[in-house]
Amino acid sequence: MIEKIAQQIQAKIGNKKPKIALILGSGLGKIAEEIKNPVTIGYEEIDGFPRSTVSGHAGKLIIGEFEGKEILCMQGRIHLYEGHEPQKIDLIIKAFRKIGIEQLIVTNAAGSLNLDMPAGSIMMISDHINFSGKNPLIGVNNDALGPRFPDVSNAYDRDIRSKIKKIAQQENIKLYEGVYLMVLGPNFETAAEIRAFKVLGADAVGMSTVPEVLSAVHSGMKVLGFSVITNLGTGLQKQAQSHDETMKEGNKASQNLISLLKISLKEI
Ligand code: HPA
Repeated sequence: MIEKIAQQIQAKIGNKKPKIALILGSGLGKIAEEIKNPVTIGYEEIDGFPRSTVSGHAGKLIIGEFEGKEILCMQGRIHLYEGHEPQKIDLIIKAFRKIGIEQLIVTNAAGSLNLDMPAGSIMMISDHINFSGKNPLIGVNNDALGPRFPDVSNAYDRDIRSKIKKIAQQENIKLYEGVYLMVLGPNFETAAEIRAFKVLGADAVGMSTVPEVLSAVHSGMKVLGFSVITNLGTGLQKQAQSHDETMKEGNKASQNLISLLKISLKEI
């Protein structure tokens, strides 16, 4: 199935050879508009490709140039809370690897556990806590695609992160760095859960990203991840949580992230 998906994507993109894949989170779809000479492939056009069901997450791959580099952009990710098996995410990432992707940039919307990191902030992910209880690598391991027990001690590549930190500093873009904790969702957290996650050492909480990262690391890709902070965690802010608010704040902060990604792509 990996092979079949990879072949279909390859057939549609012809001689394009992207090495970087970019997964866009809620409210970050705007980045896709900046891709030049795009080839767009709806998920429904790819036999065997899962479909995204969340509003605000159109499901398509956009392959083209971004700041002079060929990239494959995934607009509309697959979330486990939609009912997808985590292995479906593995299938997508392994198909990307098959067509030559070497580096994965993941973005997401997340809630902050830290009052000093307000809505509108960008957090570069330094590490994660998989609190979802799910794993895309469960099942018979194909040793040709990656090891049975992958090392994840440098999942979010240290060298790339240090380059990005320097760039952000030079460009005067405020960049936080921290630990992302994944919950399964789809409900926002309770206030008690947010207090607990803080004790566990998390800085931000969201409902995605970890499965993609585990698959990417398993297949030998380098990973860079960013959370756009759309709200404070439940109990840390006065108002109730809402998806609309998440989308609104995501749209605002995404402009900063686009700027950072543009400059960063030249350096990584
Ligand atoms: N919790 C979980 N996922 C999220 C949040 C949150 O507060 N904000 C955006 N995605």
